[in-house]
Amino acid sequence: MPIMPWSDLLSVGVASIDQQHRILVGILNQLGDSLEAGIDAWDESVALTRLVDYTESHFAFEEELMRRAGYPGLDAHEQEHRLLFQQVAELMARSSSGEKVGTQALLVFLRDWLTSHIMGTDRALGLSLNRMGMH
Ligand SMILES: [Fe+2]
Repeated sequence: MPIMPWSDLLSVGVASIDQQHRILVGILNQLGDSLEAGIDAWDESVALTRLVDYTESHFAFEEELMRRAGYPGLDAHEQEHRLLFQQVAELMARSSSGEKVGTQALLVFLRDWLTSHIMGTDRALGLSLNRMGMH
């Protein structure tokens, strides 16, 4: 069972955003599966870096889309993205300083954050873009 099964409830109605969310969820699930199957520390850190990097480039994509569309909710949305990165950096720093936070806990945190961000903040963005004719 994937850690975050894809569901149409996660669709925000804009194809480019939905496609990237699917990829992001896919990377998260892949890392979850690898942890379950047993993965060495090096592969784990490579996979984690891939997840964090993709998240970062996806956020940049959404922010550029909002900027180009003149979306009024840009600042608040961007703020949520920044806050997520601060929280992820904190969790990663704690785990590298020897505190056992663990990649599994980070995945659960990301899954919960993504679910509520996608279904709330990104959904509102999608509706607004739909009204501007973007699908
Ligand atoms: Fe977002």
